[in-house]
Amino acid sequence: MTTEVLSAAAPYLIEQDYAAYTEEQHSVWAELVGRALRELEKHAAREYLEGFEIIGLQKDRLPNLVSISKRLAPRTGWNSTPVSGFLPAPAFFEMLSARRFPTTTWLRSRDSLEYTPEPDIFHDVFGHVPMHAHKVFADFLEHYGRVCASISDNAILEKLGRLFWYTVEFGVILQRGEIKVYGSGLISSHGECKNVIDGHCAIHRFSLDEVLETKVKVDELHKLLFAVSSIDQIYEAMHEAEHRAISGRL
Ligand SMILES: [Fe+2]
Repeated sequence: MTTEVLSAAAPYLIEQDYAAYTEEQHSVWAELVGRALRELEKHAAREYLEGFEIIGLQKDRLPNLVSISKRLAPRTGWNSTPVSGFLPAPAFFEMLSARRFPTTTWLRSRDSLEYTPEPDIFHDVFGHVPMHAHKVFADFLEHYGRVCASISDNAILEKLGRLFWYTVEFGVILQRGEIKVYGSGLISSHGECKNVIDGHCAIHRFSLDEVLETKVKVDELHKLLFAVSSIDQIYEAMHEAEHRAISGRL
């Protein structure tokens, strides 16, 4: 896939200047990853941990997006494309539908290890990209982008945004009787992840109806999340959501 196919997203595409990262930044990355992995080795979904190995993430060096994409593309056709920052919805959906994940290249500082108001490379790569190595998740995410790119009704997009939020960002999965995390917002936030692991968040069985009706709150730890029983379930939920959107039932 070449950049020429992107139009809405074109103004946001940048190069990752890998050589410009400082030793301090590599050391912040190492601290973030080391701390997160201690919990994730026990509490992350199998698919996430497999993806982490497949894409060749290093624990002590910031990821080079060209290298990550070289390992990812032959598996699922996805790549991790550097962008300048937050994308407007049409550009974001366009990139997802082209299997290009918009990836920020800046890294939070040591003073804000726990929280950044906007996604950084730790959230985008450590949080999101390992799941893109999973074939069903990869298909789901492209389909999500394609459907959203074709919709202009904001009320419908808000509902589909909830499906994204409670899967891609804050998804949990039931594996061998235990709740495991796979959503990037849980993977990349110590506080959000601990909130789930420590049982402070109710977990309902994933139901598309309930997900579509559950408003997103960004200013507090989650009190309710939804557990799928397999990644196939979110793939199927997206197809059902598309049928409902097309027939005016969403
Ligand atoms: Fe995210």
